[in-house]
Amino acid sequence: MSEKEDILRRGRLAAKAEEVNVFTSSLQADRWIFPADLLVDRAHTVMLAKQGIISKTDAAAILKALAAIEKEGVDAVNIPAFEDVHMAIESKLIKAVGENAGGRMHSGRSRNDEVATCIRIAAREELLGLMADLLELRAALLDIAMGHTDTIMPGFTHLQHAQPTTLAHHMLAHVSALDRDFERLIDAWKFVNICPLGSAAFASTGYPLDREYTAQLLGFDRPMDNSMDGVAARDFILDLTSRLAIIEVDLSRLADELVLWSTSEFGFVELSDTYASTSSIMPQKKNPDVLELVRGRSGTVIGHMAAAFTIVKGLPYSYNSDLQEVTPNLLRAFEITRSSVRIMAGAVQTMTIKKDELARKSTTGFTTATEIADTIVRATGLPFRTAHGIVGRLARGSGDPSLQDVDSASMEMIGKKVSAMGLTAKLLAEAKDPAANVERRSITGGPAKAMVRKKIAAERKRLSSDIALKSSLGKGIDTAYAGLQKAADGLTGKRK
Ligand code: ARG
Repeated sequence: MSEKEDILRRGRLAAKAEEVNVFTSSLQADRWIFPADLLVDRAHTVMLAKQGIISKTDAAAILKALAAIEKEGVDAVNIPAFEDVHMAIESKLIKAVGENAGGRMHSGRSRNDEVATCIRIAAREELLGLMADLLELRAALLDIAMGHTDTIMPGFTHLQHAQPTTLAHHMLAHVSALDRDFERLIDAWKFVNICPLGSAAFASTGYPLDREYTAQLLGFDRPMDNSMDGVAARDFILDLTSRLAIIEVDLSRLADELVLWSTSEFGFVELSDTYASTSSIMPQKKNPDVLELVRGRSGTVIGHMAAAFTIVKGLPYSYNSDLQEVTPNLLRAFEITRSSVRIMAGAVQTMTIKKDELARKSTTGFTTATEIADTIVRATGLPFRTAHGIVGRLARGSGDPSLQDVDSASMEMIGKKVSAMGLTAKLLAEAKDPAANVERRSITGGPAKAMVRKKIAAERKRLSSDIALKSSLGKGIDTAYAGLQKAADGLTGKRK
């Protein structure tokens, strides 16, 4: 590009050195916002014509050229040759229709409000995509829960065997976390979906722009209130990356469990071959590397969140080029989170669950001790703390105490036999049965089958209402874009 052709710098500055060009380029994020930029260009042009700021003929020429640029796609726009995607598109447009028409598109606009609008549009798309991905994962975990309301397993605290539960109950714990993650995305929408366009450089403009109209054409809830805030605000990115980091942490914890569960020490699950790899030296190995990378990438997303916060925190209002550096962190955080959610859904859908091993290990480590103490309390009227002491003594033994064992422990502890106070062999046997342990825990949130089934039913309802919620957000955007297309077609004569 010759200096004359550089529509951005030609009036003011000489050409940049190549290294400077590369250094200031926002290429990666610019490819991401390319479709959004065309929408913004289109909406702005339609509005300029409606307001009589540019002629309908010029608007029509611009809109036709934009349609052609869209059709050719991002690869046909030589972004690296320009400062950014906005300049690349505008230059291509001017080349196509001449400066007399094309040179009017940027009236009353700055790249500052333009880019802020584009990022919000692109983020909105990613949000919808991530919502869909999360719905899939929730459904996959819910499927496992439905099939395993009777699958007894040990539950852990401090990674030590603690009490028996069911795989359904365990999976529902993760589902609950993902429910909240989804809700956080829905909540994020309102902070993203406000429109900076018309803020121009920061002080708005003297052209009579109709900001409500462009906001509506682009599917936003409303224009942003303050034009300086419009170009300077990136708290929506801090908000989104935080929410993504939370999702990543939730995924990482699930991944970490499955890594453990697939070891020979646990042997609770076997991953399908697709989600495993082997070793270059140890031919027997089946490594859960996909899950390890899900776990690892959560660190990267937390890093992107931290980067975004750190870049924004010291910036004076309004626009500074530092803000350009924030955008790729959002993009990468979305990419990683979305792929991780999908990978996780695939891994859990295809893993083999080893029910027998789960059941066999459900009593290892004397997991029924709490229930034995509770049973002593119910049968004898002793305080829980006393029963806890008696069973604590038993924990030094085999983990499978007889009534005599309990009696001798209680003799040591309180000088009385619990069998003389109401504890029977039958009650003790029931307390030692892991399935009975689970069945007893039937209060709200507990693992008993009836409660878990109730929870599963509620989760299925929640899942379908969340599906509807997500699709209504998507439909709102689609309807707005259809309106934008109609308005553009009205000007280009595609529609009378
Ligand atoms: N590429 C820029 C960004 O991502 C667009 C805005 C540039 N504005 C400016 N005044 N240099 O933020």
